[in-house]
Amino acid sequence: MKKIIAVDGPAGAGKSTVSKICAAKLGYTYIDTGAMYRAVALKVLQSGKPVDDSLIVDVTRDIRIELDESARVFLDGREVTTQIRTPEVSRAASLVAKVGYVRQKLTELQRQMASRGNVIMDGRDIGTQVLPNADLKIFLTATVAERARRRFDELKAKGHAADLAQIETEITLRDKQDSEREIAPLAQAEDAILLDTTRLTIDEVVAEILRLAGKV
Ligand code: CDP
Repeated sequence: MKKIIAVDGPAGAGKSTVSKICAAKLGYTYIDTGAMYRAVALKVLQSGKPVDDSLIVDVTRDIRIELDESARVFLDGREVTTQIRTPEVSRAASLVAKVGYVRQKLTELQRQMASRGNVIMDGRDIGTQVLPNADLKIFLTATVAERARRRFDELKAKGHAADLAQIETEITLRDKQDSEREIAPLAQAEDAILLDTTRLTIDEVVAEILRLAGKV
């Protein structure tokens, strides 16, 4: 069985949904690194100050981010699980994720979290930077139209107002920012397995990852 699994890919490809299910089936810990960038972004927004790199570094310096076994997210000791899922935080997360200091600090924390093994970690740079020695690397993708539709359904289900065309524009912009940034851009590791989920159900994607992990 593969002990450390890295799942990367663009926004809305289904990383967190399938990683969470796979972790439960394997009895592994699920680590959502996007939630950590989102927590930094929320703290930056909550400061109410004009956002620039020096504010982002200041806010990150003494930040405390914790994830529990139910994938709940805590920022400086307070739960922010739902607060970090707004489109405003998504936009800000992509901005804070460009800052070297933030990436260095979160990468260190993520490696520490993975050090006990039996983990499935998802993000943008897990297979390339955070856990280059992972036993299994998956790169999940889907067309931008399909990913926008999934995010639209997700926001609606949570009772947020959502506009499909706007979501597609925002996802395209965020993917561009994430792929073109200088430090640890979104990229498929050379030894990652590409899974295009456009026409696959969640169950089909989960089954394929479990097969690759050696579960069945
Ligand atoms: O769920 P979704 O795919 O929309 O985003 P996420 O995984 O929660 O990540 C939010 C943002 O954090 C991304 O757009 C990236 O800019 C950043 N991120 C990153 O740079 N590196 C990671 N390992 C994870 C997320």
